[in-house]
Amino acid sequence: MKSVLDNRPALATEVYKVAEIAGYLWEKGWAERNGGNITVNITEHIDDEIKALPAISEIKSIGVTLPHLKGCYFYCKGTNKRMRDLARWPMQNGSIIRILDDCASYVIIADEPVMPTSELPSHLSVHNWFIETGKPYKASVHTHPIELVAMTHCKRFLEKDVATNLLWSMIPETKAFCPRGLGIIPYTLPGSNELAEATIRELDDYDVVMWEKHGVFAVDTDVMAAFDQIDVLNKSALIYIASKNMGFEPDGMSQEQMREMSKAFNLPK
Ligand code: 13P
Ligand code: ZN
Repeated sequence: MKSVLDNRPALATEVYKVAEIAGYLWEKGWAERNGGNITVNITEHIDDEIKALPAISEIKSIGVTLPHLKGCYFYCKGTNKRMRDLARWPMQNGSIIRILDDCASYVIIADEPVMPTSELPSHLSVHNWFIETGKPYKASVHTHPIELVAMTHCKRFLEKDVATNLLWSMIPETKAFCPRGLGIIPYTLPGSNELAEATIRELDDYDVVMWEKHGVFAVDTDVMAAFDQIDVLNKSALIYIASKNMGFEPDGMSQEQMREMSKAFNLPK
């Protein structure tokens, strides 16, 4: 079957990176049923021929107006689609959308009329904010990592930077590779504009934010890097839980050892 990815290696690479990550999310047990979603700003890979493609859906409202996204293109996971299916067939379980000139609506242009994720307001608001603030970020990943979500069922871990400091202290790499830590957003209805607004506010200080009792939302230059940040945080959560299962509270690295890490790796916090 013909695909917009045919003879476009740069665009195909971006989409197949999403497929690779979707497979990891499923293997990790973080993507039950249709759980999680991924969007990537692919505008830089869009040529004149794609720009001329007709819409294959009716015009859909985003729900928010996002002035910096005029004419942008995104690959989006489809709503209700499974990550494990997307891993094998990314263009049947996701689609490419074009943001229209009113900056408040979009159309699907390829390959099939697969409706984008229900978390589109959060994803697109975040992409709009990247452009507005000049950030080089292009990808956002939402997933349901078991151990990190479990931690949000405990009030102590919802206090500012309590979970961040605990997770950083479990193994040095977590601070090195998730240097801005884990922001916390109190429980908010999935897919809502309120969740989108809260996510942007928290991303000012963090690259990964936790939607309480739901999942994480991570941003970075590409989908691999966003996944890595979640992966190192969840590794720390697993070390914490393994220690508790062995019957002790883990000591964690000392504040002095963490300061030493920040200095050696030139970290922001
Ligand atoms: P979608 O299938 O609409 O992407 O929803 C999955 C999800 O995790 C919602 O938070
Ligand atoms: Zn979710």
